[in-house]
Amino acid sequence: MTNENQAELNGFAKLGISGALLKATIAAGFTEPKPIQVESIPAQLEGRDILGIAQTGSGKTAAFALPILSKIIALGTKRRPKTARALILAPTRELAVQIEDTIKVLAKGAHISTALVLGGVSRFSQVKKIGPGVDVLIATPGRLTDLVREGDVILADTQWLVLDEADRMLDMGFINDVKRIAKATAKFRQTALFSATMPAEIAELAQGLLRDPVRVEVAPQGTTAAEIRQSVVLARTKQKRKILSDMLADETMRSVIVFARTKHGADRVTRDLERDGFEAAVIHGNKSQNARQKALNGFRDGSVRILVATDIAARGIDVPGISHVVNFDLPDEAESYVHRIGRTGRNGADGIAVTLVDPSENSKLKQVERIIRMKLPVDADHLGQPDPQRPAGEHRMPQPANDDAGERRQGRPNGQRGRGNGGNGGGGKPRFAKGGDHGAPKGDKPEGRKPFRGKRRGFGGGKPKARAA
Ligand SMILES: Nc1ncnc2c1ncn2[C@@H]1O[C@H](COP(=O)(O)OP(=O)(O)OP(=O)(O)O)[C@@H](O)[C@H]1O
Ligand SMILES: [Mg+2]
Repeated sequence: MTNENQAELNGFAKLGISGALLKATIAAGFTEPKPIQVESIPAQLEGRDILGIAQTGSGKTAAFALPILSKIIALGTKRRPKTARALILAPTRELAVQIEDTIKVLAKGAHISTALVLGGVSRFSQVKKIGPGVDVLIATPGRLTDLVREGDVILADTQWLVLDEADRMLDMGFINDVKRIAKATAKFRQTALFSATMPAEIAELAQGLLRDPVRVEVAPQGTTAAEIRQSVVLARTKQKRKILSDMLADETMRSVIVFARTKHGADRVTRDLERDGFEAAVIHGNKSQNARQKALNGFRDGSVRILVATDIAARGIDVPGISHVVNFDLPDEAESYVHRIGRTGRNGADGIAVTLVDPSENSKLKQVERIIRMKLPVDADHLGQPDPQRPAGEHRMPQPANDDAGERRQGRPNGQRGRGNGGNGGGGKPRFAKGGDHGAPKGDKPEGRKPFRGKRRGFGGGKPKARAA
């Protein structure tokens, strides 16, 4: 069969995707569109705003990328300097990088230019790349706010705006930046909001960004992917280390992501795993951007079997083949649970998600069960057993891994960023109080929780002192 014949039969062609874009989509292995793609691509091609809800790993990236790419290809190559035709905002740098990679694959051969704007790395190359103007800019809000304020990026010609992980982009940590950015885009822009979760109060906020939107809901918000087998293990915090190590001794756990609530917790879990003879990489907001991306890349290429992470890795990250997600503790926001476990069971693959629950976390568990609308089965109950002994020779202050005391001890006044500023990397001077671009709140709060909302300057406020996000 010729390529053209294949293209004719392809379901994406029926949705209105054609030419080089269709070819690249097929070459990427996308033979048939997923439900969210079927339901949302035609409406977006018609120019409609959209609020798209579908489970984790169900193809939302292509659902928003393909229609935009299709429209941009029709426009030709003329662009004004420093402008972007389409802007995709994401909550973490790693997710922004991944979205750009996906777009490059989907638009291969279609002469689409892309650029990334994100914190933690040099802004020089970013400014240079966007200098001649680009088709698609993928950004985290903090750094983009800086570059717009400094006149290095102009959003006035931006006709397409996407908020990936939209509920996260509209919560307290990001909303001020996002609103300001949205306001700076073209008057008649088309807007798309996508996520697997969308609490009602955030959905209401979202209406402010949308014009007569189509709401596409493949499954009710909060629905977890059917392929994930979920369970809980009841265990006191002091028992969790041994339980995790015993679990990981099973080699069928091929590729495991272990979530911890705080950065210190993640470090502690990693250290304990290493003491117990496991190799593990860690990713959280106190690591340099280089270290963050290196840990994720190692996990992606299979050289790292165990990745310990905070909620900066909970959303959007697509690493095919993650066999297990272990929640060492429960997240503060129930929605995070949906995203965390959604790192496995993607794109039709099977996955297993196990959550270790201390009795003090019972109310969080209830909240999770409420938003996923299902009761999690108990796989094992260790509560009747004694606490394990610490291995000989290990001395340290007793400190449960799901306790953020460490963060509190080294905590800074709310909203004030010191050196290292919560892991955005770079920048030593105090920053403006705001949510980081990585979803990591500052100071004494657990990673992934709503950060302090401080006063910020608008775009007109002149050069900021030092911003890394
Ligand atoms: N039509 C398709 N055919 C085959 N594979 C696809 C198709 N659409 C998407 N995929 C693949 O499915 C995987 C998950 O897609 P994607 O990351 O877009 O999910 P998502 O819905 O954004 O998930 P999350 O809510 O976790 O961000 C990716 O590896 C992607 O390449
Ligand atoms: Mg996604």
